[in-house]
Amino acid sequence: MGSWLTVSIRVAYNARRITRLQSARQHGARQHSALAQPQACRIARTSDPYVLLAPHLEQMRTSLLTLLGSSHPSLNAIAQYYFLHPSKQLRPLLVLLFARATNGLGADFPQVNWAADNARAHQQELDAPLTRKDILCDWNPSMPDHTASFQTAFELHIPPPNSSSYIPPPPPPPPLPHSQVLTHTLLPTQLRLAQIVEMIHVASLLHDDVLDKSSLRRGAPSAPAAFGNKLAVLGGDFLLGRASAALSRLGSHEVVELIASVIANLVEGEILQMKGSGTETPPSPSSAIDLNDLHSSPSSDKWSIYLKKTYLKTASLMAKGARAAVVLGGCREGEVWKEVAYAYGRNLGIAFQLIDDTLDFSSSTAQLGKPGFADLRLGLATGPALYAAEEFPELEAMIERRFSRDGDVETALTLISSSRGVERTRELARLHAEKAREVLALLPRSEARDALEGLTEGVVKRRW
Ligand code: FPP
Ligand code: MG
Repeated sequence: MGSWLTVSIRVAYNARRITRLQSARQHGARQHSALAQPQACRIARTSDPYVLLAPHLEQMRTSLLTLLGSSHPSLNAIAQYYFLHPSKQLRPLLVLLFARATNGLGADFPQVNWAADNARAHQQELDAPLTRKDILCDWNPSMPDHTASFQTAFELHIPPPNSSSYIPPPPPPPPLPHSQVLTHTLLPTQLRLAQIVEMIHVASLLHDDVLDKSSLRRGAPSAPAAFGNKLAVLGGDFLLGRASAALSRLGSHEVVELIASVIANLVEGEILQMKGSGTETPPSPSSAIDLNDLHSSPSSDKWSIYLKKTYLKTASLMAKGARAAVVLGGCREGEVWKEVAYAYGRNLGIAFQLIDDTLDFSSSTAQLGKPGFADLRLGLATGPALYAAEEFPELEAMIERRFSRDGDVETALTLISSSRGVERTRELARLHAEKAREVLALLPRSEARDALEGLTEGVVKRRW
């Protein structure tokens, strides 16, 4: 099962992605038509997540560009840059698969579904601002003169009573009988959430490529290489701004809280990583000893710091993004569905990053448009190095000085390659992926659940 997924995911990297997806869709159609045959169960288990959601992913990616428009051409270019290069879209995929695997199960699903239909009927799209446009875009020359002009001090304007663009939500619908039957419906809020998580991910990559001084991403010049560091940082900030506005329009305080906490987690994860990389300002002699420094901690602490960092920088967005999708589907506190989403996303995210850390040592990495051994060169000790240090204690000193002496990177590489570090890191990733798969047993059987199962295997077997 993993091989088709690896192939499908690689497809997303191919320049001829659309053509390939179309043929994958035809392949998917063949599988689905076979569903009518008696061996339905066997066939259903081969649901390819990318095929299952191909139309949504494609539509989501193109409509996302309209969320990013601004009146500054260079800001447009940088904000859209990474969206124009095909990506795995793993985070949106996770959000949409969990939406499909759980919609209909939450006690409030009839209400949220009714509200979505009602919003459509009243043209109340998620694009409708909550604030009057002349306030929201008050710098924009096409706005009414009283807010667009900065020539004089601003006078108080009391708007006429019904000039607000905000239409108050309709009264809640009468409670409907709830049958907990799965539905394939994806709510507009969940599709928008998928875009928001991708925007946040891309914002973090724009910042990350500045911090890591990366010259390449997905085989093309990185945003800092193409536009410079300043625009890359500002482009990331702009994406966060647009993502925040879109988030507020989803109408769920719980989801706003979850996703806002992910942005903080990403930064916390990056800081935790920087503490070990030597790229931060060295502490002054008088500063307190930092107990969270991975590189100077005892080895058991090194592992817990490394895994915590892995959660913060990678798994948090997957765990909380999946949970948020289920919340938008009307899952109440105390219902198991959002706990399943969180546990799955958290374990899958850690598995994903552990594999990423092993790929840094793979000879094929350079072919994928990434410089090899980037982590070691940045002074970072990831899973393979931490495991290798158990076999070759001389690595400890190198880890502590962040591979900073001449010849450290080369010696460390030789030792890590002679150790079981990469293999053991893959085993640890497999363990997390298996845990992710196990929790899915709590969900009813569906194509989306099968696709989520397949994803656990695909993440561990990936070579990208
Ligand atoms: C890629 O990791 C980077 C991340 C997963 C997160 C980076 C987070 C920040 C820079 C904090 C700022 C966040 C926001 C939202 C502005 P990697 O360097 O291991 O992977 P790579 O090889 O793809 O670069
Ligand atoms: Mg990086």
